[in-house]
Amino acid sequence: RVFAAILAGGSGARMGNPDKPKQFYLLGGKPILVHTVEKFCMTGLFCEVAVLSPPTWMRQTRDLIEKHSPHYAGAVTVLEGGPTRSDTILNALRYFEGRYGSACDDVIVTHDAVRPFVSYRIIEDNVKAACLHGACNTVVPATDTIVESCDADTISSIPDRSKLYQGQTPQSFNLPKLKAYMEQLTESEKGSLTDACKIFVVNGERVVLVPGDVSNMKITYPQDMRIAEALIGE
Ligand code: CTP
Repeated sequence: RVFAAILAGGSGARMGNPDKPKQFYLLGGKPILVHTVEKFCMTGLFCEVAVLSPPTWMRQTRDLIEKHSPHYAGAVTVLEGGPTRSDTILNALRYFEGRYGSACDDVIVTHDAVRPFVSYRIIEDNVKAACLHGACNTVVPATDTIVESCDADTISSIPDRSKLYQGQTPQSFNLPKLKAYMEQLTESEKGSLTDACKIFVVNGERVVLVPGDVSNMKITYPQDMRIAEALIGE
C-alpha cells in the first residue's frame, strides 16, 4: 500500500503575507495546494491522499478542494497539521496507521504543498525507490557553490560541489520505519529536524537519490510567486 501526505500545515512566514498562508495563494486561478493535490491524485498510485492543513484552515482547505477539484475531492482527506513540519508528518503517519493498520511494506510519499510543479515521473520514481530501498529523497545537483561558515563571519570550508545536491520533495519512506524513528524524537529534536531523510541517515539507513527537476521549485518568497506564475502559463 502506498499513501501520500501533502504537507500544507505551515504559516508561510517568509512570504510575509499576514492574511493567509502561501499554500492558499491563487496560481492560474487555483490555490497552490489544489495544483499539488491534483498532481498526486492524477497518478492513480495512492490508496489515499491526505492534505495536512493548519488547524484553523481545515474547513477552507476542504472547501477549496471541493470547489476547484470536485473530481478528486472524494479521494482526499484533510487532516490537522502540527506546530512543526515533523509534527505534521507524524499526524499523517498516525492517521494512516490508525485507519489501515500497520503492514511492514507500507510506503508514505511526503510532499510540500508549495511545490505544485512536481511531475508524474518524480512521483512515480519516488514510489518505486521507496518500495525497493525503504527511503528516498528527490534532489538536484547543487548549482551554486556551497560555502560552510561555522561563525557566520568567515568561511570554514568549501565542500566539493560535485558531491553536493539540493534536496527537494517528495521524500518517501517505509511507513512503519519512519513512524518508529519519528515517535522517538524529543520536542526539541522535532523542531530542529527540518528534513525527514536526516532521521534515516543518522540511524544508518540507506536513503537513495531520485533525480528531481529545477522546475519542481518551492514557493517560499514573494518573488517565487512571479516565477510560478510564469511556469504555470507554459
Ligand atoms: N509545513 C507543514 N507543517 C508545518 C510547517 C510546514 O505542513 N508545521 C509545510 C508547509 O506548509 C510547506 C512545507 O511544509 O508546504 C515546506 O515548508 P516551508 O516552505 O518552510 O513552509 P512554511 O513553514 O509555511 O514557511 P515559512 O518557513 O516561511 O514560515
